[in-house]
Amino acid sequence: MIECRDLTKKYGELFAVDRLSLKLEPGDVYGFIGPNGSGKTTTMRMLATLLNPSWGEATVCGHSIYTGSKEIRRAIGYMPDFFGVYDDMKVAEYLEFFAAAYRIRGEARKKKVDQVLDYVDLGYKRDALVTSLSRGMTQRLGLARTLLHDPQVLLLDEPASGLDPRARIEMRELIKRLRRENKTIMLSSHILPELADICNKLGIIERGKLLFNGSVAEAEAEVRKVRGGRVFLVSVGERNTEAANRLGTYKEVASAAFEPKAGVVRVALRAGHDDGRFIPERLIAEKFKLQSFREEDINIEDVFLTITKGITN
Ligand SMILES: Nc1ncnc2c1ncn2[C@@H]1O[C@H](COP(=O)(O)OP(=O)(O)O)[C@@H](O)[C@H]1O
Ligand SMILES: [Mg+2]
Repeated sequence: MIECRDLTKKYGELFAVDRLSLKLEPGDVYGFIGPNGSGKTTTMRMLATLLNPSWGEATVCGHSIYTGSKEIRRAIGYMPDFFGVYDDMKVAEYLEFFAAAYRIRGEARKKKVDQVLDYVDLGYKRDALVTSLSRGMTQRLGLARTLLHDPQVLLLDEPASGLDPRARIEMRELIKRLRRENKTIMLSSHILPELADICNKLGIIERGKLLFNGSVAEAEAEVRKVRGGRVFLVSVGERNTEAANRLGTYKEVASAAFEPKAGVVRVALRAGHDDGRFIPERLIAEKFKLQSFREEDINIEDVFLTITKGITN
């Protein structure tokens, strides 16, 4: 649905986007993560055919950004990080204005506006002035605007930026819903955990360069590689320290230590021992009372730290 090869944008001597290559399949939700100024907006604007690259190629829905801008604009919904405020315009009028730009006419236009307002849960604000909306509502209105022409591909630039926790959760839910409708979604964020856990693919960009590009599973595998082996958390209640000492003697275990704060024994396996089921089995056999057992989560911060460390070291 989206493919870039060596996509590059130079401003003077600055490589805002530096030979970026990536590929999104239909239904992918791609988390495009990087600090401010790393090139996210520039990339998305090039894909939306609003900005010409310095060199490189990109196709969206099979159309080249150089020759297919008309087709691409019809197929995508681009939500910019900031959109202009329209003084004295009511919410429904704002959407009708954009629907008209997409040549949606008459009854169909009214129906479509109602439908997208309903989708982002702003129906009750249809007669409110756009300028009176909260940041969260404004972002939802922006999303409604990108949905008017029923695009298959969505480019959402920092959709959750500046939102309070509640509004952020609402935005997440909306994106999850779009994912269920099998839209291909590229969403950017400079805050790591914000939206990344609703993605199946990740790209980590820094100073215009894609440091990592792959599936969430590949990112997790990368973290495991650096960690050496899988890590499990087990609790046997009162006898945790004893259990840690016992586990430490097993040949499969690289280290086992009781972590009082979490109330669990952290068991790191040696590389090559991937199956942790022996841990609860043997603890039970040795008459420990098992309370909990699970694999340690690999969260998006771990992924980011591992990957960026791998690069800077
Ligand atoms: N029109 C422009 N002229 C000069 N430099 C620009 C322009 N737009 C962006 N840049 C620079 O390109 C880099 C990437 O910017 P941007 O894509 O907006 O990053 P992000 O969206 O990740 O915050 C930044 O260093 C920014 O200052
Ligand atoms: Mg940006």
